[in-house]
Amino acid sequence: MKNTSISCGQKQNDVRLMLSEKLFLTYGRKPLCYIHSYGCAQNVSDGEAIMGLLSDCGYGFTDSTDNADLVILNTCAVRENAEERVFGNIGELKRLKENNKNMVIAVCGCMTQQQHIADRIEESYKQVDIVFGTYGAENLPKMILDVLSERKRVFCLDRTGDTISENAYRLRTDNIKASVPIMYGCNNFCSYCIVPYVRGRERSRETEPVVQEVESLVKNGCKEVTLLGQNVNSYSYGFVKLLQRLNDIDGDFRIRFVSSHPKDAGHELIDAILSLPKVAKHLHLPVQSGCNEILSAMNRRYTKEQYLEIVDYAREKCPDFSFSSDIIVGFPGETYEQFCETKEFLKRVKFDNIFSYVYSKRQGTKAALLPDSISDKQKGLWLRELILEQREIATQWLSRFVGKTLVVLPDGKGRTDKGYLVGKSDENIIVEFEGDEKLIGQFVRVKIIKAMNWALLGEIDK
Ligand code: SAM
Ligand code: SF4
Ligand code: F3S
Repeated sequence: MKNTSISCGQKQNDVRLMLSEKLFLTYGRKPLCYIHSYGCAQNVSDGEAIMGLLSDCGYGFTDSTDNADLVILNTCAVRENAEERVFGNIGELKRLKENNKNMVIAVCGCMTQQQHIADRIEESYKQVDIVFGTYGAENLPKMILDVLSERKRVFCLDRTGDTISENAYRLRTDNIKASVPIMYGCNNFCSYCIVPYVRGRERSRETEPVVQEVESLVKNGCKEVTLLGQNVNSYSYGFVKLLQRLNDIDGDFRIRFVSSHPKDAGHELIDAILSLPKVAKHLHLPVQSGCNEILSAMNRRYTKEQYLEIVDYAREKCPDFSFSSDIIVGFPGETYEQFCETKEFLKRVKFDNIFSYVYSKRQGTKAALLPDSISDKQKGLWLRELILEQREIATQWLSRFVGKTLVVLPDGKGRTDKGYLVGKSDENIIVEFEGDEKLIGQFVRVKIIKAMNWALLGEIDK
């Protein structure tokens, strides 16, 4: 595998200038970049950092690959079907490249941080010019320069740079909501999960730059900031302290965060959520399974009883406290009875929403070595069963809000009917209501009149 040669003395700014000149010589106009980020909010945020870097070099952006001079697929490795979708999309780019010889194609992110994936692209997808992983995106201008100047392919999986742009300027397209990474990587090594292998060990950003970034976003009209990390509760400088600092920032905005790990989320976190007015009253707390044997095999390091203790503590103080979660169905060795324990667990907690997935074997993880006798088809049926169960639970849970007034931040048009807006309440519940488009991006008090299984319906509380 070849690495691009970037001499230490070569200043990033000089490279950006050289690339700007090269872009003008090659295209004779402002070149356009199409970038698609798959996977989680962290990856989308990395995509925004890549856009920030490229706009400094003179690129504009397009929503279509048809008129793009640079195509970037920023990939996710969390499940096999995500990876296969990317290979399908790379395949489709071959035809476009045949019609545009100066088109540059780059594939980056979690998927390409795995050597076997980079090798597969090198051997079988010759239309791809640049491959890098989750590190060293600051070298992208140099990689593009090399491709345009020497028509060579550049592969760089070094882990020597920052994970994508740890302190980079992010080009954000949403003025109302913004994500702010507070930490990178993961130390937890859940036995099924590829993330620690492709994102490296945990690293926290210092508090001051985070506070300054949020201050600046709020000054520019942002109404909702979501703090990002694989396990925000292990933020090195104290997560609750960070929430307190951010809550003190002047302005009308709210704070969310994902994800929390149940082994590190405790009473202090719940107390902070309930006492800090700008922090949304909701906790996304991925449980993965409601069966202790499976949780242990997953290396999650908590029991269902410990999880329930957090839920009960929160609901005792605030009966409407909203929880959402992630669930994996069909972990290797899981029996139908153990799966049913998870269904029972959902009934007990009453999540307002879950993100559920069939287990996907990830090469290099511990779980990939475990015997697995249940077919994917069977696991698919279990997943369906779980989703149907959750629908009933959600409809019942959401009905408790009928007659109450929730604070909603509308961010677009609703689908209930013409003239409806949609947004999320403080509790992270989708709410639709009839209202003028001018209300998009403003907090609105909405009186709830009906509960559906995916959302609430309301009217403006006058
Ligand atoms: N760090 C977060 C946590 O611990 O909750 C989750 C991050 S992961 C990117 C998002 C979700 O993907 C996980 O909560 C899990 O439910 C799911 N996931 C991860 N690895 C998976 C796998 N091998 N198969 C199926 N789902 C998986
Ligand atoms: Fe993956 Fe577990 Fe880390 Fe979440 S905490 S990213 S599930 S290893
Ligand atoms: Fe996110 Fe997928 Fe990577 S979920 S951290 S983009 S493997």
